Amino acid sequence: MTSSGSSPPSSSSTSLTSSPTEKRAANTSKSLLTTAGATTTTTTTTIRTTTTTRKQTTTSTNTTRTTSTRGTKPKANQFGTLVHATSSLAATSASTPALGRVRRPREAFVPVPEPPPLYIITPTYRRPEQLAELTRLGYTLKHVTNLLWLVIEDANETSPLVFDILDRIGVPYHYLLAPMPAQYRIKRFKPRGVSNRNRGLAYIRANATEGVFYFADDDNTYDVSLFEQMRYTKMVSMWPVGLVTNTGVSSPIVRDGKLNGFYDGWIGGRKYPVDMAGFAVSVKFLLQRPNATMPFVVGYEEDGFLRSLKPLSNDDIELLANKCTEILTWHTQTKKNPSAIALNQTRYGGTNLIAIDKLLVRS
Ligand code: UGA
Ligand code: MN
Repeated sequence: MTSSGSSPPSSSSTSLTSSPTEKRAANTSKSLLTTAGATTTTTTTTIRTTTTTRKQTTTSTNTTRTTSTRGTKPKANQFGTLVHATSSLAATSASTPALGRVRRPREAFVPVPEPPPLYIITPTYRRPEQLAELTRLGYTLKHVTNLLWLVIEDANETSPLVFDILDRIGVPYHYLLAPMPAQYRIKRFKPRGVSNRNRGLAYIRANATEGVFYFADDDNTYDVSLFEQMRYTKMVSMWPVGLVTNTGVSSPIVRDGKLNGFYDGWIGGRKYPVDMAGFAVSVKFLLQRPNATMPFVVGYEEDGFLRSLKPLSNDDIELLANKCTEILTWHTQTKKNPSAIALNQTRYGGTNLIAIDKLLVRS
């Protein structure tokens, strides 16, 4: 974990702002930086915080931390860009540790050309299930090498609890913000995860040159072999997604080895009636399509994004999961739960429940 004076400030969300929404997020992180006692530039902030973190780590009494191999210097990767593991957002939180704990320095992401790097874009948002979902997904991703996890929250400020979980899991990540624009938030049917995914695309456009990206919602279920297949995608790859509906599956239809249509419970006039978990895209291919974006249209997020990648011929779509005969990912849903009731502080004062209560996400 480190940065250096020569590191591009690109991992700070301030440098990637491209919409009013993102500007709001950036302002938030800026004010957080100010709170953290940082001064002038992102780079300076990061360096100072790194020092603080190291100092704190040294004096930390938490014996479960293994930091010895983590304080590596920033490295230029094979694609000529400097990569550093600590974004200004992370640094901010590191200097004001949640719940009096010291954050563990995160694993650095230094992409190597082989196997091709994977960028996993995960929208998330505050709710009682959030940390459980991120824990499940994070430990799945931990089985996958050369992977950067872009965790993007639909919120105006980062959550110390999310930082803690991400640090604990130890998968290289960036934790970014992308609040849903207000005009959609008030709607009954909201385009969920769209601002988050577009923020992920902006990150990739600014920072990646090689490899493949995938939209992995925080609540789905993924077989790790899927990641090993998708990382060789040349343009766009697709595969079946198990559904927990009476349709059972959403899948490309393959006839005589070729893409011959789509099977899904709802077609709705879509050219690509596929699930968000059912496709991956090459970074190079995205970079050749500067206008590709995900629309804020409920039900048409995948279709709109895939259409925006045109020109894309059906013959160019690679059919993975053994020519779409296997199910390697599931569109699962966790039952929605109400927020936990408030803890009786008088009755449980002086017990472990006081500490545990601070770990619960209440929406
Ligand atoms: C699926 C798609 O993944 C969504 O892009 C799409 O908006 C949705 O179907 C739809 O067609 O309405 P679904 O499983 O139904 O998603 O919805 P969620 O799992 O609740 O949300 C998708 C992703 O967005 C999740 O990663 C979730 O954490 C995130 N999300 C959800 C937000 O960032 N903000 C929200 O308010 C809700
Ligand atoms: Mn979902």
